[in-house]
Amino acid sequence: MKVLVIGNGGREHALAWKLKESQDVDEVYVAKGNGGTESFCENLDIDPKNIDELLKFAEDKKIDLTVVGPEDPLCMGIVDAFNKKGLKIFGPNKECARFEKSKEFTKKFLEKYSIPTAKYESFENYEDAIKGISNFGYPLVVKADGLCLGKGVTICENKEEAENALSKIFKDKIFGEEGSTVVVEEFLRGEEASVLCLVSNNKLFPLERAKDHKQIYDGDKGSNTGGVGTYSPVEASKELEKNLEKIYRQIENGLDSEKLSYSGILFIGFMIEKDKPKVLEFNVRFGDPETEVLMPRLDCDLFEILNRTIDGKLKKEDIKWKKETCLTVIMCSGGYPESYEKGKEITGLNDIDKDIIVFHNGTKKTDAIYTNGGRVLSVTALGNDLKEAREKAYKNVEKIKFDKAYFRKDIGIK
Ligand code: AMP
Ligand code: GLY
Repeated sequence: MKVLVIGNGGREHALAWKLKESQDVDEVYVAKGNGGTESFCENLDIDPKNIDELLKFAEDKKIDLTVVGPEDPLCMGIVDAFNKKGLKIFGPNKECARFEKSKEFTKKFLEKYSIPTAKYESFENYEDAIKGISNFGYPLVVKADGLCLGKGVTICENKEEAENALSKIFKDKIFGEEGSTVVVEEFLRGEEASVLCLVSNNKLFPLERAKDHKQIYDGDKGSNTGGVGTYSPVEASKELEKNLEKIYRQIENGLDSEKLSYSGILFIGFMIEKDKPKVLEFNVRFGDPETEVLMPRLDCDLFEILNRTIDGKLKKEDIKWKKETCLTVIMCSGGYPESYEKGKEITGLNDIDKDIIVFHNGTKKTDAIYTNGGRVLSVTALGNDLKEAREKAYKNVEKIKFDKAYFRKDIGIK
């Protein structure tokens, strides 16, 4: 069988790596891939947003399964386009991708089905928003409605900061059309956790939990990033499990009631306080770097479970996990998530221990492997417990070098 993976990051490297393991999979193509996928897949020079070209490639090559990594092609309707041609593709259709495309759409859904979430109001212009924020205390959260590469959320400590955030979105139009609606939200306290669910015919199958580390500096300080380290599994109390289960059932009920037809991954971001989860956001794709720790722990055939998900036949028993803990430390280009340089040669990749997996987030291979993004490498280790996984990962991080490499030293230290 032939598989096409769409995307360029560590998430796509991890998906391609796990798919390649399947007995049924002969060839994996990645569009565009990176320096890591190149070693065992064929990288294609097709942009992940070029749906026409991707469709043409999949038809010509008779691809058996396409797996979409990033949200952009999903929000643009790649799944609808492939389905129209009878091509099998993993991911939600355009209508369901609105759960990531529009924060207002998600908030309305959560409210309608009484799913716990932060109180909110949405606004279409600066003047209304300025009036509206008087209904909130501080801190409050200002969110551009659309896709903003993870930069659309501002936590505002006072009125001046809120006015400034609203002005940047409505007047300076820093997010263009993606900021034509703004959601203002109550600030939630607690601990963040994300759950990725396979969704088969509107039924949710939660995968084991992974803990992301979003801030760039140790101790969760500094700017928000796409995520610079993760581990899995994450323990949960009985009470929390019960409350999460209730939310999954409410989401399923909402999807059915809205006559949506969801298939693919639903990534639910939660804020949890005293075992009470509230939904922060939905994404309609695998998380990055969550996928880098979930794939090594998955103890079943990914190709098979993705096909079953699409066919609406997935069962809970199909999804199996290794007991071990997996931890990944992301090596970044110095300066990320603000400006950083690319094109630094990476050395030491051949010296790492045999049981370590290095997923590439942003690299390029020419005569050697060079950095090509803010997040560069996910150094990933399995261990009998969190401590062992962490020690193994960090021991190997030390062996990999590139100019201005930066990584957090406290991934997995609670
Ligand atoms: P989002 O893109 O909605 O996940 O927001 C990005 C990050 O902003 C989240 O991961 C949280 O750390 C933070 N955040 C978003 N909404 C809230 C909220 N209502 N209360 C507290 N923090 C929030
Ligand atoms: N790691 C967070 C995300 O994938 O959005």
